[in-house]
This record gives sequence, structure tokens and C-alpha cells, in this order.
Amino acid sequence: MPQKMNRSYGVTGNPQYEAPPFTDFASVTPDTPLDKLNLNWREKDLPERQRTKHVHKLHPYLGKFVPQLVEIFLRKYRPRRVCDPFCGSGTTLVEANCLGIESVGCDICEFNCLLTKVKVARYDFHLLRREIIKVLGQLHEACDSPLFGSQRRDVSAQVSPYLRTWYAPEALQQLLLFRDIISSTHYAPVFQVILSRAARSARLTTHYELDFPKAPITEPYYCYKHRRICQPIKQALTFLVRYTWDTYDRLMEYQRLRTDAPTTVIYGDARNVRFPPVDLVITSPPYVGLIDYHEQHRYAYELLGLPVHEHLEIGSASQGQSQAAIQKYLDDMTSAFQNVLRSLKSGGRLVVIIHDSRNLYDEIAKRLGLRVEYRLRRHVNRRTGRRSTDFFEDVIVWQV
Ligand SMILES: C[S@@+](CC[C@H](N)C(=O)[O-])C[C@H]1O[C@@H](n2cnc3c(N)ncnc32)[C@H](O)[C@@H]1O
Repeated sequence: MPQKMNRSYGVTGNPQYEAPPFTDFASVTPDTPLDKLNLNWREKDLPERQRTKHVHKLHPYLGKFVPQLVEIFLRKYRPRRVCDPFCGSGTTLVEANCLGIESVGCDICEFNCLLTKVKVARYDFHLLRREIIKVLGQLHEACDSPLFGSQRRDVSAQVSPYLRTWYAPEALQQLLLFRDIISSTHYAPVFQVILSRAARSARLTTHYELDFPKAPITEPYYCYKHRRICQPIKQALTFLVRYTWDTYDRLMEYQRLRTDAPTTVIYGDARNVRFPPVDLVITSPPYVGLIDYHEQHRYAYELLGLPVHEHLEIGSASQGQSQAAIQKYLDDMTSAFQNVLRSLKSGGRLVVIIHDSRNLYDEIAKRLGLRVEYRLRRHVNRRTGRRSTDFFEDVIVWQV
């Protein structure tokens, strides 16, 4: 059980395992006392298929927050316009749109912005379907052609060392072919996300290291995930086809729930982007030295030729967790929130969801002169793969 936290401010909540977990999200109103809710969902309370409903599973992304948590705070504070300065894969923007709330998000990783834009865009589904059928038809035709295998050597010679190292020749050739075919489509960004998702699955990595691949695998290996001998991936075609239709279905499902509320995605640095006026901020900032956000989608950057600004990532894993890195993180985060505060109306709130194991966020609030209205520690039951350790997340509400 987690320790009771020091109550030096406002309402502090800790995991309340006694009460039943709260799952009636639509019942939240501005009067709902959030500190009384048990948000320590176990897998059976909030199963993966609900956490990854519709577009939330368009593409893997390490470091997402739970959409239902965002929904609770959007319903509680009912903003006219919400901002997520570290919008990542777009969870806040997707949820805001479903509730008819205008939103603006920013991220320093171009791929994350592409993914968010694809999630929240409007589509002519007849046109999208026609394009899918045409693209997959061309793909199958080219892959079935006797010429296809003979061109393999030329293809490998023309790509970056990363692509040459992490893909079997046939898989690489199929990915590059798909990239060529989609370049002239109207919905190219949708196909780029599909390409990236297939590229992630088709890497020469083990099934249990998809998040953090160590070294290319070219021989059969014992798979800890499937508990049997697995083979290295040789082709990408099945992933391309499967993910294309899965993407179509997910976009369609979201289409039925979405509203016309405007959504703006800005590719930029949260420390200096100019946000429009907002009355609520909901965000989960990067942690100190945990994830390299460009690197986690390296295959997408390599295949799509997207710009890379790794040095502008706050708290990236490559900067480590030294005292100097922590001090830099504190300064960078303070400056990012200072920038957001320029757009936040007086009395507005910032909801920050973070694993604040070093208690840095009280210091940040102090530097910014913000009142800590509410702080609770939530038990996150780790869900997938070998990362099955206990994990706690802090939900902090600051008021201007
Ligand atoms: C914890 S993730 C956010 C995940 C998001 N809540 C979601 O559900 O997808 C933090 C994000 O901050 C972004 N980031 C890091 N440094 C940044 C900066 N200087 N400006 C804007 N975004 C930055 C990372 O690229 C990453 O996508």
C-alpha cells in the first residue's frame, strides 16, 4: 500500500481501495467531488479495449494517459477551450472533441502531431474506402509480380543503415513500395500512420521487446511473450493490410462519436509556442530521463523523412537522470508552464498527470506562484508485456 502523503495543501487524495472503482464517467459534473472517487482501476474495471477504444489505438505510443481520466476532468471543469502543451498521441484533443470542447495541442515530435491530426481529422469515408481498395490492389499486384523479388537488392542499397539493419529485405521492399503507392493519395497522412504501424511490427525485433528493441534478431528465438520459439519477421504485407482496415474501422467508429468542435495541433516547443486563450490545461508532461520520444518512433522518421528535433525534447532518456538533468528538467518545465500560463484565463486550472516520484511538481508550482488545489496519487496497475511492476501516478490540479 502506498504511504499517506503529507497534507500541506488543499485536498490530498490517496488510493482509496475500499470504495468501488469509479467507472460511470458520463455522470461527472462540475459538482462531483473528485477526491472522493476511487480512480485505481484494475484491468477488470477498465479493460484495455476501453482504454484503447476507437482512435486511441491507431498507433502504439509509449507514455499515453488513460482517456477516461481526461474525460473526468473535462466533464468536471467544462472548459470552452482546453490546451495540452505536451499532446503526444492526442488523447486530450480526441476526448475534448467527443464532448464538444474546442482544443489546442502542441508537441515537439512531428510524428506525434501527424498521429494526432489523423485521429481528429474529418473524412469522406467513401473516398477513403476507394483509396484503400486502390492502394491495396496496387500493393498486391506489385508484390505478386515476378519482378518484385529481383529488385530487392537494389532497394536495400538505397536506404539508410537503420532501415537496412532493422528489416528483412522482403519486409523493407514492401514498406517502401507502400510508401511510393500512397504518396499521391488524398489521405496520405492516414496511410503514413498505417505504414508506420506496420513498420513497427515488421522490425527484426523480438515480440517482447517491441517498445525497446535491443538488437536485430535474425534467428529463431525463445519468446517470453508467447512462451514458445518465434521466428524473426520476414515480411510486412500482412501488417499493412490488417492495419489498413483496422485504421478504417477505428476512424469510422470515432466519426460516430465526434463533434464539430475545432481542434488545433501545433508542431513546436511548449516553451515558446503561442497558444490561443484557454480556460483549462490538461497534460501529462514527459518524465525525467525515461523515454526518448523521437526514438520510440524512429522507423517512422526514417521512412517518412520527418524532421527530428531530439535536442528540444524535455527530460529525454538520453539526457539521463543526473542531478544536472533534474535541474534542467525543472527549469524547462517551469518555462513551458510559464508559457502556457500566458494563455490561461485568470482562475483557470491546470491538471497535470505525472509520476512525480521526485516531488518536483511542488517546486514547479512554487516557482510559478500557483495554488495546489488538489493532489492525489493513483495506483496504475501495469498492464502489458514484461513491464508488470506497480506504478503510481500523481494527479495534480493547480489554480491560477
Ligand atoms: C507523456 S507524453 C504525453 C502523452 C499524451 N498525454 C498522450 O496521451 O498521448 C509527453 C510528450 O511531451 C512531448 N515533448 C517533450 N518535450 C517537448 C517540448 N519541448 N515541447 C512540446 N512537447 C514536448 C513528447 O514528445 C511527448 O509526446
